[in-house]
Amino acid sequence: MAPISTDDIRQAFLDFFQSRDHAVVPGASLVPENDPTVLFTTAGMHPLVPYLIGEAHPAGKRLVDAQRCIRTGDIDEVGDASHLTMFEMMGNWSLGDYFKEEAISMSFEFLTQVLGIDPTMLSVTCFEGDNDAPKDEEAAQFWMNVGIPEDRIGFLPKKENWWGPAGLTGPCGPDTEMFYWVGDGEPHGNPEKNDSDWMEIWNDVFMQYNKTESGQFEPLAQQNVDTGMGLERVAAMMQGVSNVYETDRMLPIIERVRSLASSSDLKHERIVTDHIKAATFMIADGIKPGNVDQAYVLRKVIRRAIRSAKQLGIESTGTLCAQISDEVVSQYGHIYGHVKSQEKMIADTLASEEQQFNKTLQAGLKQLEKVIAETSGNVIAGKDAFHLYDTYGFPLELTKEILEEKGYSITEKEYEIAFKAHQELSRKGAEQKFAGGLADHSAETTKLHTATHLLNAALRIVLGDHIYQKGSNITQERLRFDFSHDEKMTAEQKQEVERLVNEAIDADHPISFHVTDVEGAKDEGAIGVFDAKYDSEVKVYTMGDFSKEICGGPHVARTGMLGHFTLKKEESSSSGVRRIKATVEGGPEEIEVASQTS
Ligand code: ALA
Repeated sequence: MAPISTDDIRQAFLDFFQSRDHAVVPGASLVPENDPTVLFTTAGMHPLVPYLIGEAHPAGKRLVDAQRCIRTGDIDEVGDASHLTMFEMMGNWSLGDYFKEEAISMSFEFLTQVLGIDPTMLSVTCFEGDNDAPKDEEAAQFWMNVGIPEDRIGFLPKKENWWGPAGLTGPCGPDTEMFYWVGDGEPHGNPEKNDSDWMEIWNDVFMQYNKTESGQFEPLAQQNVDTGMGLERVAAMMQGVSNVYETDRMLPIIERVRSLASSSDLKHERIVTDHIKAATFMIADGIKPGNVDQAYVLRKVIRRAIRSAKQLGIESTGTLCAQISDEVVSQYGHIYGHVKSQEKMIADTLASEEQQFNKTLQAGLKQLEKVIAETSGNVIAGKDAFHLYDTYGFPLELTKEILEEKGYSITEKEYEIAFKAHQELSRKGAEQKFAGGLADHSAETTKLHTATHLLNAALRIVLGDHIYQKGSNITQERLRFDFSHDEKMTAEQKQEVERLVNEAIDADHPISFHVTDVEGAKDEGAIGVFDAKYDSEVKVYTMGDFSKEICGGPHVARTGMLGHFTLKKEESSSSGVRRIKATVEGGPEEIEVASQTS
């Protein structure tokens, strides 16, 4: 009997590869241990990077596991049939052991013999070749050897048929992907020809290159195989359902959401289901909601879930998320013991975040009503709408929705500019640890963000114009600023920087921003991370005559709001990069944020 349930498919995969001499290893945490370049474990290979580049794995050269993964880049896709914020990836690895031929024949055997899939329902793609690596005729030939006809084999470029590195550097290589027919009628063609008829289910990566910091692909000492099979997608395929939410383990969760709802909307039901499931697993792996990095992604999925629930007529009671998470634990707790054993902590964490969010919403609603009352006519300035987000953390979509419901419109252009700057910021925050993750703005983080600009300007005065920001990370407690400089700073230099920043604070410079293009910003002498990707329109923040910098904001309205600046620590970050940690204290608890000058 072919395995049909999610649990049976997971087990069958582990068993099959175990019978092919693979050691079953446990999946790792969603928070990568040794890789600062990504926020989450995005693939099964991630925890195995040291072994893919040559270190010996204690369990041997053939491994198999189930790995929980999060891809923040997919969050916006959630709501369709197959994308999930968190999913389970089944993977088998060869660490310098077997290569293309055996990997392909084992994949084919598992699909057709163990899962019993009719081979005519399958197609595959291989790498078409470019300057970095040749066309993968070899992989195609191995597919033909096991019986895949030539017209079911497509060739695609790097964007599709190349995988890795998982972070910015590391092991990578051409891949071959397997697809299942989801089109109408008889299966035909392949993803090169009729892509939308085929659903990707499995990816075998032939890792033979290492991408270096300079962007070169150098051959790895050993040839590895890294595979990833999407468990939820395969479950949908085996269970004959059209989407992952109707599979045996996901259905009870979406049903729980529906049982609480007073109206139905498939997309919102899916978002609540997916987001609470992801949040449950994130919390189980030690993440708490917050304003930066993983913590911010967690906060975002919880808030989005609450918002989508509202669209379904489910009012937040403070324990709404916990109620849904309860079903997640029921479905996965027997497989993921760490989720089950922390059930209570997970529910408490969700409840306290939900309650805090409700307070934020109330404060924002009040403010919104004030804005409406002060507006004559029915057009609200886009910057006022955005201000609500900046200051109160009031979700932009909500502002827009409420205003529309009440028959108000927003000056779109202004709103778009603010919105785009915000999106860019949260994208950077979510995808790159180094971007500082300023997407959620408490008074403390806003003050520290402003202090970062003053610090940057002071460093340029004391050390010279070679100072550029190399990284920034802000928590509620401190700023951390990385900058280009070769030498340890002397005690005098540190004192002088601290003195200059405090002098700028005491001068109580007004802060404002204007919107211009990148060239315009450069011409007026704004500093920025010019190797970063900016949108065509950028915001330039001016702090009196002390600092002018390209930045998404927000910042406080006057430098005086920072109180007192203390440079706590100066140390080496990496070669040619120094790191400063600093604090501000004693400023007002409530801040005003800097606004736009016309
Ligand atoms: N690491 C490969 C992927 O994520 C298998 O698709």
